[in-house]
Amino acid sequence: MSIDNNAGSGKGLVGWIDDRFPMTKLLEEHITKYYAPKNFNIWYYFGALSILVLVIQIVTGIFLTMNYKPDGELAFKSVEYIMRDVNFGWLIRYMHSTGASMFFAVVYLHMFRGLMYGSYQKPRELIWIFGMLIYVVLMAEAFMGYLLPWGQMSYWGAQVIISLFGAIPFGIGDALTLWLKGDYIVSDATLNRFFALHVIAVPLALIGLIVAHIIALHEVGSNNPDGVDIKRHKNSEGIPKDGIPFHPYYTVKDMFGASVFLIIFFAIVFFAPEMGGYFLEPPNFVPADPLKTPDHIAPVWYFTPFYAILRAVPSKLGGVMAMGAAIVVLFFLPWIDRGRVRSVRYRSLAYKILLGSLVVSFVILGYYGMQAPTAFGTWISRLCSVIYFGFFVGLFVISKNENTKPVPERVTS
Ligand code: HEM
Repeated sequence: MSIDNNAGSGKGLVGWIDDRFPMTKLLEEHITKYYAPKNFNIWYYFGALSILVLVIQIVTGIFLTMNYKPDGELAFKSVEYIMRDVNFGWLIRYMHSTGASMFFAVVYLHMFRGLMYGSYQKPRELIWIFGMLIYVVLMAEAFMGYLLPWGQMSYWGAQVIISLFGAIPFGIGDALTLWLKGDYIVSDATLNRFFALHVIAVPLALIGLIVAHIIALHEVGSNNPDGVDIKRHKNSEGIPKDGIPFHPYYTVKDMFGASVFLIIFFAIVFFAPEMGGYFLEPPNFVPADPLKTPDHIAPVWYFTPFYAILRAVPSKLGGVMAMGAAIVVLFFLPWIDRGRVRSVRYRSLAYKILLGSLVVSFVILGYYGMQAPTAFGTWISRLCSVIYFGFFVGLFVISKNENTKPVPERVTS
């Protein structure tokens, strides 16, 4: 009996592929027949933009790796070489360094959207958890990448952050810092392992988590600015009445968002790549010197809110625990918020005040985390740390019997 290898549901090449690989099925499920709420607003750009920045980072990272040398003697010089002698090396490097900051800017806005519209609430808890794992892994990625130029801030920043693990009692901390550094000080061994982790291990984990994040999203469907469930009202074909196919509607919308983003991105790359010392810090233009500590060591802006919480607590162990708790608490948000209304549009004034104070405290912490420590700054950081944690306590308390507005049956715009 002969087997007709060309028999299939579709015709031509597509039919041939579909018989062997679910190409059309996947495209329909995730793009052309993925029905997203029709009321997405500007806040819904940042997920797609995060993917765009990830692609920029991976592509520019590959080209940087072609000329970078992960060696304590050569690393700083190889970065100078990339900047001065490699064709368009300056562009590749500035895109990568600007990309790091823009990644966090976009991810912070994306997370804030989740808070505003209750996108972490049932049934989207896992989307949120995957998101938080992405965030933690992204922090690790940025931290390790920052050591690679082997400048003063790279070196001493790594020294300070790794030494934080030393606060863990019973000798565990000391053993752990030694294990992380691979030496008694931050050295060539540290640089080599950070390089290996930064260019391959952590990006792989990041990509895996992002895929899981999107699979989870497509399983339950997107939330929206009204926080209403669009699957409740379907037409005779089973399509949500308030849904529109992701392609072409949101692919076009995201292309517009990407264009605006790229204009801003390249304006920074071409005209202000150091961003006044916020994206590339001045001490990092000086080669790493293990014998000379810079006057003031501060992490890059996206870490400073947590750094300020760390410094606000007088004991080292207490500070490390508070800093860890500030991140870990976010994982539990889906269970801390006991409310049933998702969107801020229909939530109580108390909730709006709490959310507003969270943002304000986070920004102020970010500012004081960048500054050299002063008595005034420490007290403000303490106050803002209390407000930051107060958001979660307050939310847990008010959300049970919150005085919410009626949520519409269908999306409003
Ligand atoms: C590399 C980082 C990330 C990428 C590439 C990414 C990608 C995406 C994409 C493409 C979407 C759908 C489009 C959108 O709603 O904007 C989405 C939705 C979502 N993401 Fe992320 N994300 C990232 C990080 C995070 C983080 C750090 C969190 C929170 C901790 C998070 C939480 C969410 C939530 C809750 C949704 C559903 C939003 C809704 O339906 O309203 N994501 N993400």
